Amino acid sequence: MPLSDELKQRLQQSGQGHIVHRLARLSAKKQQKLIHQLQQLDLANIAELFQLSKRQADHHDFHRCRVPDIVRMPETDEEIRAWSKAGEVGARAIRQGQLAVIMVAGGQGTRLGHDGPKGTYPIGPVTQRSLFQIHAEKVLALGRRHQVDIPFLIMTSEENDQTTREFFAQHHHFGLKSEQVTFFVQGMLPALDASTGEMLLSAKDELALSPNGHGGVIEALDAAGLLNQLQSQGIRHCYYFQVDNPLVQIGEEQFLGMHLNAQADMSLKVVAKLNAQERMGNLVELDGKYRIVEYTELPAELAEQTDESGQLRFWAGSPAIHLFDLSFLQRLAHGDITLPYHLARKSVPYVDEQGTPQKPSSPNAVKYERFIFDALPLANRVLAVETTRAFEFEPLKNAEGDNSPFTVKQALSDRYQSWLCACGIELKIDHWHELSPLVILDMNDLERYTPETIIKWRSAPRLKNI
Ligand code: UTP
Repeated sequence: MPLSDELKQRLQQSGQGHIVHRLARLSAKKQQKLIHQLQQLDLANIAELFQLSKRQADHHDFHRCRVPDIVRMPETDEEIRAWSKAGEVGARAIRQGQLAVIMVAGGQGTRLGHDGPKGTYPIGPVTQRSLFQIHAEKVLALGRRHQVDIPFLIMTSEENDQTTREFFAQHHHFGLKSEQVTFFVQGMLPALDASTGEMLLSAKDELALSPNGHGGVIEALDAAGLLNQLQSQGIRHCYYFQVDNPLVQIGEEQFLGMHLNAQADMSLKVVAKLNAQERMGNLVELDGKYRIVEYTELPAELAEQTDESGQLRFWAGSPAIHLFDLSFLQRLAHGDITLPYHLARKSVPYVDEQGTPQKPSSPNAVKYERFIFDALPLANRVLAVETTRAFEFEPLKNAEGDNSPFTVKQALSDRYQSWLCACGIELKIDHWHELSPLVILDMNDLERYTPETIIKWRSAPRLKNI
């Protein structure tokens, strides 16, 4: 289909006239791809975004940050009883079919550099189970525990959607019913030339597009009609997590119960930061609102402040584990509150006017993303609950070093080992251990086992380098 007058006009009005000239130089066949990409974009919004990058970003005085209230890990008998009671409230809501699980898996996984969607990475320390399998088996195990088919919604990007669907289909959805699993594709945004605001092309017939951030999950759910569908299915609460963290306790009953008791629009888990400079979003309270402040934005004198016991005052980092009230997601999608865009200056390879590929060595482009945690200050009520890294946070980010396959396998193996030991099983040292979430999902399942019961688990000699 040729370039329509309507699209041509929109391109010109939004400052993207150069695309009209570029299209004119392409064969009819090559025009198709570019025109298809252009049709998916909200060109007026892109022009507005570029205006944003020229203005001063919203300025918050982060020196006024305060330490927010956070439910700490239970220590006293009374606290342990309160958590367990909350677990009953959460369990009831799950049994009544009110919970859906949302996993975001649309990122590009650039740092890991794995060939394929990050969720296909073989991370099981012994069996090489993929991240996708671990997550899907948790959803299945939680559903079996509460005798309900929990809807599992997976956000992909245009780049990895097809491969992700195929992977799930090849593995028979890891035991979930196929109708329980829904894939939806997130939006894309173009990289803009930082000086002119013109969209960059990655090839003569292709825009330089990238996914619009994990915060794009709300508009993507809505665009696919899923918020309404969830509502009509009787869903009231959505558990959100990111594909790269296989330790996450999906749909954990206690967390859900506390979220419900607090009547929160949105809840989040936090973990203690390893040090003041850790590259992790900090949970703070600013002007009466909870928000995540990037580690680059929290003033060093606040980040480093300690209390009388020598602990960091701003100790809480975000592992990106959330619960949302469905009606809050609907307000974010339809109401007058929306997530802001964050701007990043990046070096983006492109094809110039003459069709010559260019590889800039310094930032030449601006990219825009939405972050899910920006929903926090928009919520009327927020609940923050502490968890530990050993319990539920070790994300797969890098090929080596911190948060790499080695550290993630180690964290998983340590977790499984502690459960097996709690069941009275003697294990070989210097081995990796692995359990399926279908055997033991969490500590609630430990009661089912004694040293005499046969538990299915796998061990293998531990390799130093993976
Ligand atoms: P990261 O920001 O860590 O990005 O995303 P990434 O894609 O995993 O890795 P890098 O930065 O390219 O190396 C955290 C989580 O958010 C999801 C990712 O899939 C991951 O689960 N995400 C991120 C999306 O779903 N969409 C996005 O646009 C960005």
